[in-house]
Amino acid sequence: MNILILGSGGREHALAWAVMQNPKCDKLIVAPGNAGIAQIAECAQLNIEDGGAVAEFAGGQMIDLVIIGPEAPLAAGVADRLRDAGFAVFGPSAAAARLEASKSFTKEICAAVNAPTAAYGHFTDAAAAKDYVSAQGAPIVVKADGLAAGKGVILADTAEAAHAAIDDMFGGAFGGAGAEVVIEEFMTGEEASFFVLVDGETVLPIGTAQDHKRVGEGDTGPNTGGMGAYSPAPVLTEAVAEKALAEIIRPTMAEMARRGMPYTGVLYAGLMIENGQPRLVEYNVRFGDPECQVLMMRLGAQALDLMQACAEGRLDEAQVNWADDHAMTVVLAAEGYPGSYEKGSVIGGLDDLSEDSFNMMFHAGTGTAEGRIVASGGRVLNATARGADLQEARDRAYALADAVDWPGGFCRRDIGWRALG
Ligand code: AMP
Ligand code: GLY
Repeated sequence: MNILILGSGGREHALAWAVMQNPKCDKLIVAPGNAGIAQIAECAQLNIEDGGAVAEFAGGQMIDLVIIGPEAPLAAGVADRLRDAGFAVFGPSAAAARLEASKSFTKEICAAVNAPTAAYGHFTDAAAAKDYVSAQGAPIVVKADGLAAGKGVILADTAEAAHAAIDDMFGGAFGGAGAEVVIEEFMTGEEASFFVLVDGETVLPIGTAQDHKRVGEGDTGPNTGGMGAYSPAPVLTEAVAEKALAEIIRPTMAEMARRGMPYTGVLYAGLMIENGQPRLVEYNVRFGDPECQVLMMRLGAQALDLMQACAEGRLDEAQVNWADDHAMTVVLAAEGYPGSYEKGSVIGGLDDLSEDSFNMMFHAGTGTAEGRIVASGGRVLNATARGADLQEARDRAYALADAVDWPGGFCRRDIGWRALG
């Protein structure tokens, strides 16, 4: 079959790598891709948020399945446009993508099905929002309602800080995303991510992971897109996963179908777990990045069969073949990230890495200049490995990271600390 993947990050490199392991794949095109993806697949320049352009391109290339990586094309309705044109698509409709694109929508659905999550208020003006903060007290969480590239969440320690965040959001600091604001109870516990495939009806768990959002060791410093991840997440035990499915995920999916917007694709539930009880922090309508890298490392070739079954509405026949293994990915980022950083520094040593189904260097923000691989983003490489236990996966991932010659980059040295103790 001919497959088109949309996206350009480490997540899409990992998806491309897994898809290429499967003998079913005859041709793989990634748009727009990156320098690492270009080594294993054809890359095409395409505006991936323009559904018409993507459908036209897919038609010309005789594509059988389109896998959509990031949230922006999903929220823009690219999956709808492709489905209307008759393509099998892995990814939700724009209506269902509101589970990520609108926090108030998700909170309202959770309330309708009684899913455990933080208590909240939804506001369209600053005065009412501030009154709510004053009544609730701090700590409290202030969120821009719309997509804000992961930056629209302020954890406020004091009511004053919450009031300032409210003024910023209604003042336009997050553009249209901040025109409405959700204010939430601050939840305590340990966070973990739960990934399931959904074909409108059947919900199939495909793995758990934990990310490291802060840039600094010991989870300090500013938030990033994620500095490293591992799978499985020990805190998401089978009992906790069962509760999350029964109390949160399945009821949400049933409610989406009931409202005429059945969900299809991967659903990523960010959970806060305390005393064995999961509560929903947020849904994302795509794989996490870098969580996808560890999931793909563990699933390998079957990832394509699962995504195809999902896109074709056959998840009830699908089965995940679990290996009793662990995977870790360490993000190599450009010096200065998540603040300002330089682009264009040369990365050496990549050709000499020994890569196989246990050790892979996925590219996130890379490009080529004069025949050499250069950094072209904040998060640049993902040293990814699996092993019989997390320690073995970790040793391999860091060995891979350390084999790269890139003076312009850095990584956290403590990925996995929570699980390794
Ligand atoms: P979100 O964009 O909703 O995922 O929020 C980003 C991060 O903020 C989450 O991964 C949590 O670490 C934190 N967070 C969000 N909402 C809450 C909450 N209600 N209580 C505690 N932490 C939260
Ligand atoms: N790593 C977090 C995310 O993809 O949202």
